Amino acid sequence: MLCSDGEKKLSFGGSIKDGDLVIVYEKRDVMKAVKVCETSMLQNRFGVFKHSDWIGKPFGSKVLSNKGGFVYLLAPTPELWTLVLSHRTQILYIADISFLITYLEIVPGSLVLESGTGSGSLTTSLARAVAPTGHVYTFDFHQQRAASAREDFESTGVGSLVTVGVRDIQGEGFPDEYSGLADSVFLDLPQPWLAVPSAGKMLKQDGTLCSFSPCIEQVQRTCETLKSNFRDIRTFEVLLRTFEVHEGKIDSCQGDEGLSVGSPPCKRRHRSSEGNTMKDSSSSPIIKARPCADARGHTGYLTFSRLQCLS
Ligand SMILES: C[S@@+](CC[C@H](N)C(=O)[O-])C[C@H]1O[C@@H](n2cnc3c(N)ncnc32)[C@H](O)[C@@H]1O
Repeated sequence: MLCSDGEKKLSFGGSIKDGDLVIVYEKRDVMKAVKVCETSMLQNRFGVFKHSDWIGKPFGSKVLSNKGGFVYLLAPTPELWTLVLSHRTQILYIADISFLITYLEIVPGSLVLESGTGSGSLTTSLARAVAPTGHVYTFDFHQQRAASAREDFESTGVGSLVTVGVRDIQGEGFPDEYSGLADSVFLDLPQPWLAVPSAGKMLKQDGTLCSFSPCIEQVQRTCETLKSNFRDIRTFEVLLRTFEVHEGKIDSCQGDEGLSVGSPPCKRRHRSSEGNTMKDSSSSPIIKARPCADARGHTGYLTFSRLQCLS
């Protein structure tokens, strides 16, 4: 469980306790979040796992089923949580999240305003970024979504770093009590330009704003509104390219679609160390790298800007 201890250090240290959330990892694309309960069991294709066997083990442990099968029990970090959380809305993923946290200059101690909360994917990472002394105030106008997000923040251990409010941010703006206090504001709303004037009031001088929109038409309207009191307006699309790297054999010059590392993607010939004779290496192993077929494409555009200093 993510916790702030007396030394104000965030960690998943210690061992798994009754009531903790763990990520049960079978393989890269088969993971699920499980709340540990001493009397419960997990059943999957590898057999039956008793939760009572998990208690007291460190996060990261490999645990065995009644049939000798195994899974790993991982800590619910924001990165893993994003992959297993229940999607109540579209969510932000790691590529956009990591870029925006850096570009917004969010650091421990920052005060961040966010809307909408949605499934809380981004909020969980924001919370860890501002910990242990900062805070995230996140707003969604959907009551049930806000309540579910609150429950999730408690289970993932970031509850004390996040306050969830129910509010129509496009209609009413952020609450006045945060005026001039926010280091950063993040918007993931259908009409973000409606919330831009309020975001401007909330930010400290030189504070940063980011708006995420899937469509370029939304970006254009947001940029138009930002021009009145923001500067350094920049829009990015973050495209992540994942590669599979493995050892294989070259079949033929045409048939090999992967790129061999450090050599052209065709049948290689080695110069023999003993002489000038050429040796056919088509049957020897070679490292191949190719982009994954299931790589995520367009998610949305991130528009950043900084509040214009008035003095
Ligand atoms: C796409 S989701 C946000 C997803 C979130 N960034 C995440 O990573 O999980 C957009 C959210 O904005 C909320 N929303 C839409 N209009 C709103 C408004 N006027 N005020 C507050 N929240 C609003 C929706 O209820 C929805 O939960």
